[in-house]
Amino acid sequence: MSDHARVEFDGQVYEAPVIVGSEREQALDISRLRASTGLITYDPGYANTGSAKSGITYLDGEGGILRYRGYPIEQLAQDSSFLESSYLIIYGELPTRAELDDFRTNVTLHTLLHEDIRRFFDAFPKSAHPMAILAAATAALSTFYQDHYDPLNAWDVEVSTYRLIAKLPTVAAWAYKKSIGQAYVYPRNDLGYAENFLHMMFAVEAEPYTVDPDVAKALTLLFLLHADHEQNCSASTVRLVGSSHVNMFAAISAGITALWGPRHGGANQEVVQMLAEIRDADGDTASFVSRAKDPDDPYRLFGFGHRVYKNFDPRATIIKETADTVIGKLVGDDPLFEIAGELEEAALSDDYFIERKLYPNVDFYSGLIYRAMGLPLNMFPVLFAIGRLPGWIAQWKEMISDPDTRIGRPRQVYTGATERAYVPIDERA
Ligand code: SDX
Repeated sequence: MSDHARVEFDGQVYEAPVIVGSEREQALDISRLRASTGLITYDPGYANTGSAKSGITYLDGEGGILRYRGYPIEQLAQDSSFLESSYLIIYGELPTRAELDDFRTNVTLHTLLHEDIRRFFDAFPKSAHPMAILAAATAALSTFYQDHYDPLNAWDVEVSTYRLIAKLPTVAAWAYKKSIGQAYVYPRNDLGYAENFLHMMFAVEAEPYTVDPDVAKALTLLFLLHADHEQNCSASTVRLVGSSHVNMFAAISAGITALWGPRHGGANQEVVQMLAEIRDADGDTASFVSRAKDPDDPYRLFGFGHRVYKNFDPRATIIKETADTVIGKLVGDDPLFEIAGELEEAALSDDYFIERKLYPNVDFYSGLIYRAMGLPLNMFPVLFAIGRLPGWIAQWKEMISDPDTRIGRPRQVYTGATERAYVPIDERA
């Protein structure tokens, strides 16, 4: 196998070194391309462009493979916890029992928010989307922790890691409580991570609240399955914003904003809305599939398709199995779950989807579980963000410590007006 590629242009030659990854991914190193040939590259959506060398998560889109630090997602889903997998993703190795206990304690002891942040929620209208509140509150957290937010100080990064993982569920739950006019419920140090979140979401002062262990188990699995996904839109956003050396809170806030989009993490909310529309259209999946296929109609089936996976998203397979169990236990027969199955079957047997290798992705079934848990639609992307946080932190840490990292500043192909002289306003047509 050659260790370089030759780029010839206008008599100039660039011998581009070929970088080979641990899973035999091959990349052209074009860092000297412009200096050698005057050429830049053009790659909308970066579909062919590697932005980093990373050892965190490996995806094989054709094979439907996902591994966190080399461990298959199926094994972690079966045997690991969200905090254990978060430790693995952030620090690179499975923790010893003592390391995990220490990590869990550090997270538990940082779940409270500064009391002044309570007024922060009052500034938002009841109808505010919780992703807007989450992004704003995460950036605002940096103002309360100026003692430890230097992105180049290892201890500041460690403390910020605990604070973010610990406080995001509290911010999320309080945003929900604010939207329904209920009192904020404080975190409890005697509860596990998912249990604490559910308690803050659904407990009320007037009566005792007991977390359903099956719901907590399902939520832990969902957080774990969302924990990282290499250079997706929001992780790339965290890396790009972080490359300016702004503090971690601000970079993570940018990631939350990117995830909110309906083409990314916001899709789990859109999927359930789409399934409800199909239900209200007497289950007419065929018309929704034909709309999605119509080149003149921008409509797409939410929860289908993926930039990398051209096979089943392994997370969707696991989530579908969980959905079957949890939905059955919590709500019995859910017409939307049945419609989802019919839609999946219709799409997967349709040439349009087969030719484009469009399969259900992580968002297709996850929203149905959140809905069965009693969460409102607009909280679905928030749960995606809580799950994805350890991945964003790991990607940010890898970026900030990579000697190859420079501030992210892509070039462009300029297509605007060429030079022209200013025209005084009275002389304009
Ligand atoms: C996530 O990157 C990650 O890893 C993301 C994620 C993570 O964990 O971080 O996995 C989470 O964001 C999952 C994706 C959630 N989004 C959705 O479910 C929204 C619906 N899907 C799409 O909009 C789309 O599939 C994307 C955004 C996910 C991927 O877009 P790409 O890779 O840019 O693909 P494309 O738009 O170039 O589509 C290729 C073709 C096009 O048709 P043609 O122009 O070839 O005729 O497939 C079609 C598209 O029109 N297509 C769809 C479709 N998705 C793609 N047609 C109908 N319905 C869809 N859902």
